[in-house]
Amino acid sequence: VPAASAEPSAFDFPELAAGIDEHLHVAEGYEAQVLLRWGDPLYADLAAFDPTAQSPEGQEKRFGYNNDFVGFIPLDGDANRGLLVVNHEYTNAELMFACLGATDRKGVIAALSAEQVAIEMAAHGGSVVEIRHRDGGWAPVIGSAFTRRITARTPMAITGPAAGHPRLATAADPEGRRVEGMINNCSGGVTPWGTWLSGEENIHYYFQGRLPEGHAEAGNAKTMGLGTPQYGWGRFHERFDLSKTPNEPNRFGWVVEIDPFDPASTPRKRTALGRFKHEGAAGATAGDGRYVVYLGDDERFQHVYRFVSAGRVAATRAENADLLDSGTLSVARFEADGTGRWLALTHGTGGLDAANGFASQADVLIETRRAAKLLGGTPMDRPEDIEANPKTGRVYVMLTNNTKRTPEQIDAANPRPLNAFGHVIELSPEGGDHSAETFRWEVLVRCGEPAKPEVKASFSALTTADGWFGMPDNCAFDGSGRLWIATDGNNRRATGRADGIWAMETEGPRRGTSRHFLQVPVGAEMCGPCFAPDDRTFFVAVQHPGEPDEEGGLGSYEKPSTRWPDFSPDMPPRPSVVAVTRKGGGRIG
Ligand code: FEO
Ligand code: CA
Ligand code: CA
Ligand code: CA
Repeated sequence: VPAASAEPSAFDFPELAAGIDEHLHVAEGYEAQVLLRWGDPLYADLAAFDPTAQSPEGQEKRFGYNNDFVGFIPLDGDANRGLLVVNHEYTNAELMFACLGATDRKGVIAALSAEQVAIEMAAHGGSVVEIRHRDGGWAPVIGSAFTRRITARTPMAITGPAAGHPRLATAADPEGRRVEGMINNCSGGVTPWGTWLSGEENIHYYFQGRLPEGHAEAGNAKTMGLGTPQYGWGRFHERFDLSKTPNEPNRFGWVVEIDPFDPASTPRKRTALGRFKHEGAAGATAGDGRYVVYLGDDERFQHVYRFVSAGRVAATRAENADLLDSGTLSVARFEADGTGRWLALTHGTGGLDAANGFASQADVLIETRRAAKLLGGTPMDRPEDIEANPKTGRVYVMLTNNTKRTPEQIDAANPRPLNAFGHVIELSPEGGDHSAETFRWEVLVRCGEPAKPEVKASFSALTTADGWFGMPDNCAFDGSGRLWIATDGNNRRATGRADGIWAMETEGPRRGTSRHFLQVPVGAEMCGPCFAPDDRTFFVAVQHPGEPDEEGGLGSYEKPSTRWPDFSPDMPPRPSVVAVTRKGGGRIG
C-alpha cells in the first residue's frame, strides 16, 4: 500500500490497472476513439481498405504505417478544427502482407516483391490530415485541400551548411541538394510558426551491401551502424545499396521541416541540426526570441543535443522559412555535481578541424556523432524525446535504456549498469533561458519495478503497483504543464505489463509519483502523445500492434498476437491514431 500524502495529486483520474492483452484500455471515465488507421483513405473516392488489394498508388493516398509523432496545428485558432501531422516511422511487412509466409526478418526481406517494397516505401514518411470535432467526436476531413502524404519518394531539398557538399552528391543528384523522401521518422515537433519538424532515426536499416574497399565513408558508415539491413529495398533500388551509391546514407539522418499548410511545398532537410539517429525535435523559444530545438540521438552511448537558431522567431511563417538553416548545434556534457554545459559543435574550435578530419562545418554536421565524442559530450542511455515544460521552462530527457552499460561505465547522469528500464533527467537551463550555455540537472526518476530492490527504481513511495513503468520514450505536456510519459518496450522485457501512458508528478511532495492512464495492445509501443490546445482531447499513436517479439515470445511472424483495432480475421492489426476524451467532456486527467 503506497504511503499517503496530505498534498493532493495533480491528476484526478482513477488509475488504470496494469496488464497486457489484445486490447487498448484507458482509465475509467475516459473513452478512446480510433481516428486514423493504416490504410484509411485520405483522399475522396477511394474504396475501403482491403489488405489483399494493396498497391503503391493506393498507399500513397491512404494513411501510412506505424504512426509515431503526432502534432496538432489548429486552423483559424479553432480548437475543433486542425491539421494532424503524423510520422510514419517504419513498416512491418510480415503483418502488412500476411501471405509472405516468412518466419523471421531475413525471410521477410527475401520474400518481398518489387511492388511490396514500393508499398512499404509509400507507407513510410508522414501524413497531413485535417480533422474536425463534430457531433461529439473527431473525424478526418477526407479530400481536404490540406491533405498530404509524404513518402520515401517525395522530392525534398537539402538546406543549411552541409547542402551541396560533395559528400552528399550522388549520380542522381550531382549537386547534393535534392533527395528522394524521408525514412524512419520517429518523433518530432511543431514550431511556433506552424511547421512540422520530423526526425529521421534508424536510417541504417535501409541500406544493404558493402562500401567499396577503402572507401572514405567507411568510418562514418560504421559510426551510423550501417551494414545491418532490416529492409530489402536495395534489392530493387540502387540508392539503397552501399556498393552502388556510397553517399546515399549521408542524405538521411536529418531533421526535416515541412509546411503542412501547403501540400505543394518542398520539405527541407535542415542540416544545421546535425546528422544522427534523430528521435525528436521539440523546441522552445529562448528569452531573446531565438528558436531552440532539443534533439536526442537514440542509440546506446549517444548524446543529447541542442540547436539554437542564429536569428529570432518572426511573426509570419514566410519570414521564418530559413530560420533553421543557421545557428549553433551543441552537445550536452553532464557533470557529477549536478551542473552541465552545452559544448558548441563549431568548425575550427575544440579540435573540430582538418587535423581531425573536419575540413568544414559540413563535415562536422555529416559526422555529428564523431564531433560530439571529440568535444567530450556525455554518452547517454539512449536519448529519446526531449521536451521543455512550457510552464516552468524545465526540460525533460527520456533515456529509454542501455543494457550494454557496464559497472565501469556508470556516471552520475547514467547511474545504473545494465540499465534495462531507463530513466528521466530533468534539466534546468541557467536563468530559465533555453539558449544559456549552462544548466543544472537531476535524475527525476529511475524507472522499473520498485518492489524489486535489485532494479534500484526511484519512483516516489506514493506510486502504486500499477503506477510504475519502464522504458520512457515519448512525452508531452498539457496546457497546465503536467508531464505525461509514453513507453516503448515493456512487454518485451517481461514486466507483466503492456506499454502505455503514465502521468508523472514533477512538483512538490508528490514529485516522482507516476500514475497509469492508458494501455496499448500487445506488441505495440505508445507514441505521439499530443494534447489538443484545450486539453479536452489527448491524441495518442498506437504503433506496431501485434509486432512479433523474438525475445519475449509474444506473437510470431506467422500469427499476430492481436488484431486490434478491427478484430476481423481478414484484417491484420493496424497501427492507429486514437483520440482520448473524458466521458461527458472536460479536461483530460
Ligand atoms: Fe523510434 Fe527512438 O524510437
Ligand atoms: Ca517508435
Ligand atoms: Ca521513439
Ligand atoms: Ca523507443
